[in-house]
Amino acid sequence: MIEREKIEEIKRQTDIVSLISEYVPLKKVGKNYRALCPFHSEKFPSFYVNPEKGIYYCFGCKKGGNAINFLMEYEKMDFPDAVRKLAKNLGIEIDTTKGLKYKELYEVNEFACQFYSLCLSKDIGRRGQNYLTSREIILNKLKDFRLGYAPASGGLVTFMRQKGVSIERLNRAGLISMNHEIFRDRLVFPIFNLSGRIIGFGGRGIDDYMQPKYLNSPETPIFKKGSALYGLYQTKESMRTKNKALLVEGYFDLLSLYQKGFTNICAPLGTSLTEQQAILISRYTKRVNILFDGDMSGIKAALRAIGLFINAQVDVYVSSLPEELDPDTFIHQVGVDELNKVIESAPDFFHFYKDAVKVDTVEQEVALIKDLIQIISNIQDPIRFDRYLKHISHVFGINEDTIKREMEGKKPLREQKPIRKLKVTQEERLMAMILNAKDHFPLAKEILSPDDFNQEDIKRLYKTKLKNECFDIDDLSTAADESLREKMYSIIMKEEPVSKEAFLDALFRYKSTIEERRILAKIGQLSKNGDVKSMGEYRKKLDILKEQLALKRKMLNITINEEAVRSNEE
Ligand code: UTP
Ligand code: MN
Repeated sequence: MIEREKIEEIKRQTDIVSLISEYVPLKKVGKNYRALCPFHSEKFPSFYVNPEKGIYYCFGCKKGGNAINFLMEYEKMDFPDAVRKLAKNLGIEIDTTKGLKYKELYEVNEFACQFYSLCLSKDIGRRGQNYLTSREIILNKLKDFRLGYAPASGGLVTFMRQKGVSIERLNRAGLISMNHEIFRDRLVFPIFNLSGRIIGFGGRGIDDYMQPKYLNSPETPIFKKGSALYGLYQTKESMRTKNKALLVEGYFDLLSLYQKGFTNICAPLGTSLTEQQAILISRYTKRVNILFDGDMSGIKAALRAIGLFINAQVDVYVSSLPEELDPDTFIHQVGVDELNKVIESAPDFFHFYKDAVKVDTVEQEVALIKDLIQIISNIQDPIRFDRYLKHISHVFGINEDTIKREMEGKKPLREQKPIRKLKVTQEERLMAMILNAKDHFPLAKEILSPDDFNQEDIKRLYKTKLKNECFDIDDLSTAADESLREKMYSIIMKEEPVSKEAFLDALFRYKSTIEERRILAKIGQLSKNGDVKSMGEYRKKLDILKEQLALKRKMLNITINEEAVRSNEE
């Protein structure tokens, strides 16, 4: 575990703007920086970074936090890795023995990968080796992928026992289920995250009749199928340098193409492409070529993927293969040069879409046009947008103004204000003030108890802060629910921290309202019972309370002034 103070120091020293700028171009607006959110697709920026507080927040998808949270979210790192990376940037030394369940899972997967690849290299892996040969896979060219073979007779459990890994841990890593090793007589493909750690496995049955043909590890805390891509760890640099990504459907498509030099390639994990995966690819290149199977389901999958890429501001091209071929069979049966030609001559999404969708009736044509309009309405680059607008107009013979009018109804208003005005209660505002400036909490502590808050969520937050004074705005990502977090972040992003005087004003105004309300409620009750005598007492109490509060206020003012004098003298 890394010490709390170390983490605080790292957070303090990290410049969140330059950190995030390495990933997304930020633009200064007022005291914040703004960008298109890297965590969801959007056309108008609602992702904000506040350098003073060291926090970011997206008012669209509600993701937010500090520099550590950012790395965890963006790089899919676990907490200790993120802290370590920031420490490294700052040249701060930390020694850690990482605790946490993640480490355990990565470690089990790493051992499993060693076991499977050992098996593939030995006699016991003969079936695996033969199978790879039959599919013309050359292991030498694919070392980074660390392929393996899971023997029919098993052996993982025994291997793990020698490494001191319990059945329980194997279970948690999804490698066994009901005491049974899930991969048997399968070729095994380790799946890596972006930092090169193994998060899960895919396995292909050696016998074609084996069911299912492909089996993936179940989802675990480190393995989410919709947010990982097979091959990306090994191929992302090539995507960057070639400024283009190839997207295929299957493990073998990827490996067959990679070994022939198509190294800028990745594949989803047996499910249809997700928004997250499209965004992930868009970090490395803004140009993607989809190379799906030539059959109907491949075409359908490509049509679905197009929208996701356009939303992620990626230019999409789609290569059409002959119906009975997938990229793997194509490269072996037809050849590398031909495949290159197919890729180079791929039509852009617009022409692919138009040709792939069969239209027989006017209704169908109208539906197609509307689909296309919907897709291009998400293109942000005005020049590109204009180009496709002209395409639609030209190809279907429709006036550009008509198309634009059709779009009006669909897209978010351009002038839409990213930060909505949220209804904020008095106690929420007070809480935001407390979190917005470090000096305010000690004052609040003198005056307010958790019971002075009526809202349960604020009460809970205040209690957390009392228990742990280090608790800070950027810890809100774990301690508050979404709507509260949105309110706090919106206040903190928009407003300067108030001075101590202004804070005391707000604090005492709040405190007296609360106390008065309590006493008035009591008086109301007494008057119902006709208890005039006690009512008088409570009225007096009210006066005393006001005096006390005024006195307390004065005392605090004196303390503040003394502090100010002292710090001026220092
Ligand atoms: P395909 O059925 O097109 O297989 O599935 P393929 O890639 O051509 O495989 P080979 O060439 O017969 O070995 C495409 C992808 O869908 C996922 C896998 O990721 C596969 O690579 N898939 C397929 C599964 O997850 N489960 C299955 O049972 C089948
Ligand atoms: Mn295939």
